[in-house]
Amino acid sequence: MQGQTMAPPLSLRRLLRVVLAWFVAASPGVTTAMAGDPGEAASGDLQRKFAVHVQCATERERTALARELHDEFGSVFTALSLDCTHVIRTLPPENTAAHERLSEMNELIEQALNSMERLLTDLRPQVLDDLGLRSAIESEVRAFGKRTGIACTIRAPEEEVALAPERAAALFRVVQESLTNVARYAGASCVQVVLRRIDANLSLEVRDDGRGIEPDKIADPNSYGILGMRERMQLFGGRFEIEGSPGRGTRVHVTLPMG
Ligand SMILES: Nc1ncnc2c1ncn2[C@@H]1O[C@H](COP(=O)(O)OP(=O)(O)OP(=O)(O)O)[C@@H](O)[C@H]1O
Ligand SMILES: [Mg+2]
Repeated sequence: MQGQTMAPPLSLRRLLRVVLAWFVAASPGVTTAMAGDPGEAASGDLQRKFAVHVQCATERERTALARELHDEFGSVFTALSLDCTHVIRTLPPENTAAHERLSEMNELIEQALNSMERLLTDLRPQVLDDLGLRSAIESEVRAFGKRTGIACTIRAPEEEVALAPERAAALFRVVQESLTNVARYAGASCVQVVLRRIDANLSLEVRDDGRGIEPDKIADPNSYGILGMRERMQLFGGRFEIEGSPGRGTRVHVTLPMG
């Protein structure tokens, strides 16, 4: 071994930096942003930019998938439902067995359509593109109330809020995840959602009156839903807080810079 130079062990941190640098160099949008900034101090910034890049790519992928699902299956299910309704109408009323069978079929088609719409909203809230963030949140909260029977109120600014698409998507995902958690764990009878503009920030609050999240769940590294919300907000320089009080509910509060 003497006389041989041993390569220093490649630490995980260094390895990550090398991989990130390679990935960023291969991504035109990010390369421009990073040009002339290769130093040690830029490492954190590089990682953040990488994460934003991945986030945007994921959202684009989801959008494409949602569009295909919508185009491929949406029209087929709708046509099937219309055909079914037509056959039911033209069927002699005394043919009760066929009436029943067709009505069941129609219900199944309706269920499939509803599931598909939920899936589409999960993948990519089209309403975000069509109507903007405020309306998307309003419609999500309304649909949640209808689906779960939980009384929901929402307060939001009069006018639509202008936010970059990936920030809007991140905030919308926080609303979806918080509401899903309410439905799954809170045992709540009402939910309040408040969207506010405070100077150059957007503030969003989702508050339920259920059992209240336990502190160890907040700190649990396996609480991926909570981790995801926190990371999404931190990615864009925002803040995430969640607190529970036993028997009195849970409050999720996020603040996100608008630009
Ligand atoms: N509104 C709430 N009320 C009561 N408990 C909650 C609430 N939100 C979350 N929790 C608790 O916190 C835990 C972690 O939530 P988190 O969203 O991180 O993960 P999850 O919902 O269990 O799984 P995933 O979101 O990955 O499907 C939940 O399992 C639940 O026990
Ligand atoms: Mg969850």
